[in-house]
Amino acid sequence: TVAGGVRTFRLTAQEGTTELLPGVETPTWGFDGPNLGPTLRAERGEKVAVEVTNDLDVTTSVHWHGMHLPAAMDGGPHQPVAPGDTWRPAWTIDQPAATLWYHPHPHGETEEHVYRGLAGLFLLDDDASRAADLPQEYGVDDVPVVVQDKVLDDDGRLVLKDDGGEPGTLGGTVVTNGVAGAYQEVTTERVRLRLLNGSTARTYSLGLADREMDLVATDGGLLDAPVRLDHVRLAPGERAEVVVALEPGETTRLRSSEADLGGVAAPFAMGGNDAFDVLELRAADELAPSPEPSWGPSTHAAEDALHEDDATVTRTFDLDERTINGERMDAGRIDEVATVGSTEVWEVRNTIPMPHSFHVHDVQFRVLTVDGQAPPPELAGPKDTVYLEPRRTYRLLMRFDDYTDDVLPYMYHCHMLLHEDEGMMGQLLVV
Ligand code: C2O
Ligand code: CU
Ligand code: CU
Repeated sequence: TVAGGVRTFRLTAQEGTTELLPGVETPTWGFDGPNLGPTLRAERGEKVAVEVTNDLDVTTSVHWHGMHLPAAMDGGPHQPVAPGDTWRPAWTIDQPAATLWYHPHPHGETEEHVYRGLAGLFLLDDDASRAADLPQEYGVDDVPVVVQDKVLDDDGRLVLKDDGGEPGTLGGTVVTNGVAGAYQEVTTERVRLRLLNGSTARTYSLGLADREMDLVATDGGLLDAPVRLDHVRLAPGERAEVVVALEPGETTRLRSSEADLGGVAAPFAMGGNDAFDVLELRAADELAPSPEPSWGPSTHAAEDALHEDDATVTRTFDLDERTINGERMDAGRIDEVATVGSTEVWEVRNTIPMPHSFHVHDVQFRVLTVDGQAPPPELAGPKDTVYLEPRRTYRLLMRFDDYTDDVLPYMYHCHMLLHEDEGMMGQLLVV
């Protein structure tokens, strides 16, 4: 609802049951329903307010992943919502159009809360995205694809592996938007898929069974131009928007095929050999025309742009099995302090033969280099989360704008949620 110029959303975290598999009732958690949550949507420049109510019997929180906003509104471990309570964050949308998402972030419990079903998309629009030649009718030719993997026991209950083994829980059942065997009826020549890896541990390699696709956006918004490719690798927390062309009457499939995990010690143990169907696309016998994806330069491109020459600070982050710079998360310790408005380079080194998925709150960064080389196309747009191949160094360019807080930090952490919960997270104050 929009009242007094503020777009207001209400989200209630609750328990329920869902047929993840046909005919099997699985106890799940969701926002405003038994599983996942509604897709929220707002415009650049709009004021938004959310009423987050917790009807669970455990403390949770709701974090706006990818959103530029004050630390007090961020929904991380410093904004817990106790059972029965309501939390009311509000902020102004001030970033380019993008596919963001929201999920709980309670300290040490994020993996379980996301795994049980608490997650939803938060789409942002702006003038540039509306003017772009892109499919944009939600649910018709602009389709959410939230990909998660689950382990179900004989009674249909979700099982979360708790032996601490790498990389966390890898499920043999892949659900898309909360159902196994998902399909989409397509009525247009092109369809835009908003891909979110909402899994806790698994990295996917998503592509069509029999054709290429156009990558049009990464985590934080549109690329400079579409890039044709046959698959995109997404680690937990990462998003991509792709456009797929179809012929009348045909059927094709979005699949996750064997993921190139990049020099991982035991790829099979990390799910690297697994393959899944993610979404079947069924084209109608007659398809309405869709334009070839294209767009002009964004009116905001200059103000949002990051320039390496402006960087005045370089920080180094070494990740091993469970620590960042040798430390585990301590809510009482501030790890880094940044100055508002300054441009920084973060050199993030994965020092072990296992992968991570590095995420920074509040910002969209640019990947400058991977081991000194220019990044591949799927890392060339705005990002807030990046898969870290083993033993590689990623140089990230970012700027902490607008908001300061002397007390409340932003988080940066591994988005493989077992790693995050076991302490692979640090705290950054912006002053
Ligand atoms: Cu998507 Cu700190 O999280
Ligand atoms: Cu986040
Ligand atoms: Cu990790």
